[in-house]
Amino acid sequence: MEILFKLIPNNLIHYIAYAITLGFVLILLRTISKNVKNNVIRDLTGQIIIITGANSGIGFETAKNCVQHGAKVILACRDEITAQKSCLQLNFIKKNSTEFIKLDLSDSSSIHLFANIFEKKYSKLDILVNNAGVMAVPNRCLTKDGFEQTIGVNYFGHFLLTHLLLDRLKSSSQFRVINVSSVAHLAGTIDFQDLHFTNRFYHGMLAYFQSKIANILFTIALQKKFDDQNLHGISVSLHPGIVQTNLFRYLNGPTKFLLWLISPLFNFIYNNSFEGAQTTLYCIHQNYFKLQKGAYYSDCQNQKRLNRCITPENADILWNMSLKIFGL
Ligand SMILES: NC(=O)c1ccc[n+]([C@@H]2O[C@H](COP(=O)([O-])OP(=O)(O)OC[C@H]3O[C@@H](n4cnc5c(N)ncnc54)[C@H](OP(=O)(O)O)[C@@H]3O)[C@@H](O)[C@H]2O)c1
Repeated sequence: MEILFKLIPNNLIHYIAYAITLGFVLILLRTISKNVKNNVIRDLTGQIIIITGANSGIGFETAKNCVQHGAKVILACRDEITAQKSCLQLNFIKKNSTEFIKLDLSDSSSIHLFANIFEKKYSKLDILVNNAGVMAVPNRCLTKDGFEQTIGVNYFGHFLLTHLLLDRLKSSSQFRVINVSSVAHLAGTIDFQDLHFTNRFYHGMLAYFQSKIANILFTIALQKKFDDQNLHGISVSLHPGIVQTNLFRYLNGPTKFLLWLISPLFNFIYNNSFEGAQTTLYCIHQNYFKLQKGAYYSDCQNQKRLNRCITPENADILWNMSLKIFGL
């Protein structure tokens, strides 16, 4: 061994050591970031499932699995071209399994129209997956209803949608509302005095963190409503893992360049959309009585580590504010 070391130039030994260490670090990062695979499967025949933002990424993979297991899936998407394409792909897997109904979560009139169309066509709704989202919107801008874009789409749009679909959910014997949040909520805070960044510094990521806190608070308040009314309903939230999707599209300037630079590494470390759909699928497939009501899931498990803002009191505050805003 000693002879071998003497034969190799000193520099080369250093390079080899660096390469081995880097290899270990990469494998470690991949192991940490890799999602746990859902291994709970049930037959979804007869189940009617709405998935928002199902034309791409995690939403599309979720829809694909539901179709494969017999569900009728409604793609609730804003972009007609990509949604029709996804619909065609899913109907190719199983004939008449999928329907597209247009939904723009940044516009309450579109949400009302979506709910009206759905109600006319379907007598019940078993699972609502509030999956659509935007992240890192570069400049503060408002939705048609005057909400800051990120919280408008990620939270308020889904709040209204869920309310408008409640009657159909109640018609299912055991219904679920699954809210796709993010571990990013841990980095943020929620400012009830200024949800829309009117009088404080705006950054796209701060808005994203806040919206993901709102998703979890909504889950808790919704579960309370179900329990208070003795409804057979479960509301859960989840983190899908770090997944390479279009969600990163708004990143700009140096962050975008950095991301491009490290993209080969990023592809290796992070999950693809199929892996990203696993926790949502766990919440869809798991036995109704085994799901923890109002809980936050990650890696197909109930996770207790939550932002300090996640309290029943804050859930009540946001719930009441939202009811008032929409006049519900
Ligand atoms: N990717 C990650 O690492 C990660 C991590 C944690 C949490 N999440 C969460 O996972 C969910 C799914 O995101 P993804 O990663 O799969 O990204 P994605 O591929 O960009 O999916 C987001 C979906 O939301 C839709 N959407 C955006 N604005 C909308 C609006 N106004 N009305 C209706 N639909 C709208 C998008 O539609 P268009 O195609 O028309 O834009 C797209 O279908 C999001 O809630 C995200 O916050 C993702």
